[in-house]
Amino acid sequence: MSSIVIINGPNLNLLGNREENIYGNISLDKIKSISIDEAKKLNLNLSFLQSNNEGEIIDLIQNAEKAHKGLIINPAAFTHTSIAILDALRAISIPKIEVHISNIYQREEYRKKSITASAVNGIICGFGYLSYVLAIQAIYSLIEN
Ligand code: DQA
Repeated sequence: MSSIVIINGPNLNLLGNREENIYGNISLDKIKSISIDEAKKLNLNLSFLQSNNEGEIIDLIQNAEKAHKGLIINPAAFTHTSIAILDALRAISIPKIEVHISNIYQREEYRKKSITASAVNGIICGFGYLSYVLAIQAIYSLIEN
């Protein structure tokens, strides 16, 4: 069974109560259980992680290659600021997908630029929690092909 990891960045632990008009009222725990169900259907083992700390996220990315065949990341606000996360993503060679709950291109100017996107195979954004489900399907096909 192949293993994949989903890494969630800062403030995503607050989903469900956070800016519900933008992110909906689904909690991160619920997204986790939906993601685990989707992974099971594809015979993938899933680790679902969250950190508010940039350095910790970098450690998780650096370690991902040893244990996992694919990585999905929602870098949250670090998407728009972190060259360090970009470099960590560039440093590992497993397939990588960036996800966002909201459509970052419909939002404030400062959210329209993803610094991290150039290091991943593709981005899925704007589908709410379904962005995660679609990303699991996409990473599965990248791993299998
Ligand atoms: C987000 C979009 C980011 O701009 C924001 O900082 C987040 C969540 C999303 O999933 O839509 O925290 O990554």
